Amino acid sequence: MPQQSLSEGCQVFISQPVGFVGGEVTVPGDKSISHRALLLSSIADGTSIIRGFLHSEDCLATLAALRAMAVDVAAEGSDLKILGVGIEGLQSPPGPLDLGNSGTATRLLAGVLAAQPFDSVLTGDASLRKRPMERVAIPLRLMGAVIETRDGGKAPLKIKGGRLLTGIDYTLPIASAQLKSALLLAALWAEGQTTIRSPSPSRDHTERMLGVMGVKIEQNSSHAISLTGGERLEAQEFKIPGDFSSAAFFLVAGLLGAPDGLLIRNVGVNPTRTGLLDILQEMGGQIELRNQRECGGEPVADLFVTQSELRGIEVHPDLVSFSIDEFPVLFIAAACARGQTVVTGAEELRHKESDRLSVMATGLRVLGVSVTECPDGLCIEGGSVSGGRIDSQGDHRIAMAFTIASLAAKGVIEILRTEEVATSFPDFVAVATHSGLAIEVAWSKNKDDLSDE
Ligand code: S3P
Repeated sequence: MPQQSLSEGCQVFISQPVGFVGGEVTVPGDKSISHRALLLSSIADGTSIIRGFLHSEDCLATLAALRAMAVDVAAEGSDLKILGVGIEGLQSPPGPLDLGNSGTATRLLAGVLAAQPFDSVLTGDASLRKRPMERVAIPLRLMGAVIETRDGGKAPLKIKGGRLLTGIDYTLPIASAQLKSALLLAALWAEGQTTIRSPSPSRDHTERMLGVMGVKIEQNSSHAISLTGGERLEAQEFKIPGDFSSAAFFLVAGLLGAPDGLLIRNVGVNPTRTGLLDILQEMGGQIELRNQRECGGEPVADLFVTQSELRGIEVHPDLVSFSIDEFPVLFIAAACARGQTVVTGAEELRHKESDRLSVMATGLRVLGVSVTECPDGLCIEGGSVSGGRIDSQGDHRIAMAFTIASLAAKGVIEILRTEEVATSFPDFVAVATHSGLAIEVAWSKNKDDLSDE
């Protein structure tokens, strides 16, 4: 969805102060795993089924792109049935592929399209067109791809078809799962071996899923993997677990306001995603993993969280890539904790759907929280939180995070530009309401329409 200026109007969350949450909630399917299941099923041999697919705007953008390349995807209730076209079966799309707000879709597809016999163009909304894409184009060019970026390395990406790729040995400049996955995907078509080294680990859903689909991946160390081109993928039946990044809002909600506990069912707990659990537990949070099991190569559990006295901590920089999408709601927990919380080593947050360090610092200050912003992190003085009007800058995770502050806030929190919540968690307001939050969805013609507290 294109980002609009406030004068064109926007969707607003009006979140009332509430004391408690509780009961049970279920969060929708994992976004990262949904994108990958769809993409890999499309180039597999045979028919795959995806159960628990996340029907959010980001994943539907990947679906539309694959359909535009002649992949037959049928909906069976909320499940998807994908007739894989095999490794050589994608067809030239009739026009540019618009991936909306989705960085994951754009970067993963760049890896796939770099190796196809046809030309393609990847583009997206205003937020996506501000995000860095040279980081994926550079190693793909080293493999032999021809990719043009615009305005100093941004989308649209113009990819020339018909290039024969060759495997490379490449060290990523940052621990990015999107980059690693783009290179792994391109490597499927490349001649010889591709080795990808990373400064530290990042989420490993692509490696796990390729393994389940019969592709041999060598794990050289926790930081290096290799794949040799020429393998084929076997169709699968996937069951997508609930998204830990969506559960994160309810983990913090439970810590702030669930004296009798809040149960979040069926959540993916892949250790490359659950850094927030370690951080919140170190802050004093009581969180139990129940009914731990494995599903399609991914660990899954029910999370039971109980209201806890949180204290500020220094977050270890090694945990940053394992909690990369959870910082907006972690900053809310920090604002409600006793004492100071310091986050460093998180410069990457400036390159997400918004500059999350700057937008969160500005929003927290509106709520009366003292925040110091550094190039690579924030220092937050926890304590009291007031009501106020926040501009989420169209960032879905920031919009959802500020509703959770209502469990500690002394007044109403109005959050502007909340449409993008549909990119990852279309039913967020319903699930949040079910847990006990009180969020009204309004439409503002412009920000001056909203009532002052
Ligand atoms: C994602 C990887 C992460 C994350 C993003 C989804 C993925 O980005 O922030 O929301 O699905 O691979 P990095 O590429 O920075 O790891």
